[in-house]
Amino acid sequence: MSEADTKMPKTILDLNDLMYYGKKVLMRVDFNVSINNDGLIGEDYRIRMTIPTIEYLTKRGAKMILMSHLGRPTSAQDSRYSLAPVARRLSEIMSVNKVRFAPDCVGPYVEKEIDEMNMGDTLLLENLRFHKEEEKNDADFAKKLASFADIYVNDAFSTSHRKHSSIYGTPKQFDIKVAGLNLKKEIEYLSMMKDNPPKPFTLVIGGVKITDKIGALENLFPKADNLLVGGATAYTFLKAYGVKTGNSPIDHEHLSWVSKALSKYSDKITLPTDHIVSSSQQVSGSASLIKGDIPDGMVGFDIGIETSQLYSSQISAKRSGTIFWNGPMGLFEIGLFSNGTINIAKSMALSYWRGSRTLIGGGDTLEAIKRAGVSEGEVSHVSTGGGASLRFLAGNQMPGIEVLDKN
Ligand code: ADP
Ligand code: 3PG
Ligand code: MG
Repeated sequence: MSEADTKMPKTILDLNDLMYYGKKVLMRVDFNVSINNDGLIGEDYRIRMTIPTIEYLTKRGAKMILMSHLGRPTSAQDSRYSLAPVARRLSEIMSVNKVRFAPDCVGPYVEKEIDEMNMGDTLLLENLRFHKEEEKNDADFAKKLASFADIYVNDAFSTSHRKHSSIYGTPKQFDIKVAGLNLKKEIEYLSMMKDNPPKPFTLVIGGVKITDKIGALENLFPKADNLLVGGATAYTFLKAYGVKTGNSPIDHEHLSWVSKALSKYSDKITLPTDHIVSSSQQVSGSASLIKGDIPDGMVGFDIGIETSQLYSSQISAKRSGTIFWNGPMGLFEIGLFSNGTINIAKSMALSYWRGSRTLIGGGDTLEAIKRAGVSEGEVSHVSTGGGASLRFLAGNQMPGIEVLDKN
């Protein structure tokens, strides 16, 4: 694999203002946020972070066409994955213009909507993943999207590790393809962390998207001084270590890699020693604390008290350095399983006030710190990306950045 080129690409600031006047700008954003059954958006950080770019461009006379995915839908009929609630939220928080919403991302209706746009208008297209071609980086689909506009902007750092049509195939069709302000900020901050993290560098990993993250960890392990593993990810590590994990989720595909990493980096890696377990996810008040092996029929849903105290003290130790946290320590959306995550969030805040450079990444991790009462201002940098920020720090390829124009 060739060396990843994640240096700063050309950005919207590098083009003359007049370039945008009356032009159609197709911008990839990542509005993959959590939406509950009533259509209410949980954390809107990813939405808020795109506002500066939208306003910069609309003020200069651009017509903004926004496109995003939401979740991992298997059918276009699944309205839980519609971006309509996001269009409403975006309208509420934009200072001037309202946002129109197109109920599909391609087709004659969308073309008509775009034709009728005025300078300064913003249109959000429906979920790109309602078309299976998106994730296949299908060339025809990429061209259809590209036909809508004159200029392409990527402001979706958190999806830039995906080689999908809207991220990779579509920008290739454009003469002008540049980064938005959020992508620029992410590259600036994370490059500094990648190349020169203040030492010691502690990595806290949790969450469920194990397959996405393990690849990046391979490159990050040598750079980190300490590795604290929690969340569903921890069970793959524990299993590889020979601890019984009951019915907890395991990434079998990566077990042998994890085993090798455990022996190579044994001095850096800390695994949970106790767990909050339950018999199933449909728990209604039944959870227990277990030390060591997890019996068959039981699933680990949170790190235990001893583990939580150990991780918290390591994170907030009185020494400055860098701490990067991605992935909740447990199924924190359920109160019974939220303590481990809440403790880690509070320790991250304490560590920030004690002078460490703290970074968090991932939609769910951001939601988790809010639940713990920790604000965005108590973290040095809140990345919009989970898997993407890990991959960036690991020096892995980022197709969505590599495809943009170079300075
Ligand atoms: P991020 O969005 O921060 O990158 P992920 O998407 O990888 O994080 O994972 C977040 C999800 O992981 C949350 O919904 C959380 O409930 C879930 N999770 C973490 N630990 C567990 C666990 N032990 N069992 C089930 N779900 C878990
Ligand atoms: C994320 O939430 O990490 C990004 O939006 C990417 O989503 P994906 O993992 O479904 O591609
Ligand atoms: Mg997530």
